Amino acid sequence: MAIPRRQFFRQMMIGAGTAATLPVIGKSAWSGNWRSLQFDAAPGTAIRLDSNENPYGPCSKGCETLKGMASSANRYPKHDYIDLAEAIAATHGVSRERVVLGCGSAENLRMAAACYLGPGKTLIMASPTFELIAQYAQNAGAQVIMVPLTRDHAHDLNAMLERAGTGQGVVYICNPNNPTGTVTPRADLEAFVRKLPSGYTVLMDEAYHHFVIGSGAAYTSFIDRPVESDQLIVTRTFSKIYGLAGMRIGYAVATPDTARRLMAQKVDWAMSLLAVRAAMAAWNDPDHVRNAATRNAGDRQEFYNQAKARGIPVIESQANFAMMDSGRPVEEVIDHFKRNNVLIGRPFPPYTSYARISFGTPPEMQEFWRVWDTMPARKSAA
Ligand SMILES: Cc1ncc(COP(=O)(O)O)c(C=O)c1O
Repeated sequence: MAIPRRQFFRQMMIGAGTAATLPVIGKSAWSGNWRSLQFDAAPGTAIRLDSNENPYGPCSKGCETLKGMASSANRYPKHDYIDLAEAIAATHGVSRERVVLGCGSAENLRMAAACYLGPGKTLIMASPTFELIAQYAQNAGAQVIMVPLTRDHAHDLNAMLERAGTGQGVVYICNPNNPTGTVTPRADLEAFVRKLPSGYTVLMDEAYHHFVIGSGAAYTSFIDRPVESDQLIVTRTFSKIYGLAGMRIGYAVATPDTARRLMAQKVDWAMSLLAVRAAMAAWNDPDHVRNAATRNAGDRQEFYNQAKARGIPVIESQANFAMMDSGRPVEEVIDHFKRNNVLIGRPFPPYTSYARISFGTPPEMQEFWRVWDTMPARKSAA
């Protein structure tokens, strides 16, 4: 008998039934080094399924704009910043002073850390999640507390609230979450923001916002229906769906007061004219976003289908990547793929057997599955 798709996924996806297989880390402090985790030497010919980029290239209008720009490189980007901030603000229905442009979300995360973290302050984040801000927190002398995701791979907001206590600092929420691709429901987040002590700022990272399709995910952006609170910053990036990761541009939306504080930490003239003009062209191309999201949903479904055919559990994702349970230490899988010229995501403890795969183009994914099928069987432990 055919199993309906939803039910199939409930069985396939790790959840309550298989939670025992998930390692539980407690309130561990961040002890990593972001830079040492990054940018493993990538041979130019490697298939790159490791950084959640857009494998199809930059959006075409951004690309066209860039091609014509070499002769403008002698000019500072003067009005371009304002034009882009205005365009973003108009789309989101907010005033321009609420939009903070940055060299990718990375710079906006760094600005937030510089404003709201320091000695005696705390960064609270999920485990696993996108860890860049932990490095900034550590640089600022703040304590980092990592709170395991729930069994559904959502942020454990109650536990985060408990850990916040009466302190001060930042709560980082990545929604959809990298590396799990899962979402934390909007209603839960709204209640969380209401209860959070006033000494905390919530940094809502919506880098993968555009890939969420359908309402079943209980996801709603905090930009499209803003919460008027000085305690809230929402970040977005041009690196993912727009395919402009190499350009380094993103933005944050906050209240005017919070945006002013962030801007005070910004390096002046840091974003290049090329980045800003490419982002502007991309912004004016909503068809690109729609088409890329639809294509990604198809790629995601094909990934599920291939995993299902091999009996591999996958965490259901709302992003342009997914985590699959390899049934072995993920380092072995990463090495196997690397030897075959395919780069996949790094380890994300405590999900020690899970590999994060960024979806590539169909030929790239064909190669991915071919390589997967050549992985040597594990020797039995007995
Ligand atoms: C959740 C999340 N936020 C931010 C970033 C960094 O984005 P950007 O390229 O805009 O700095 C990434 C990159 O992978 C990410 O996964």
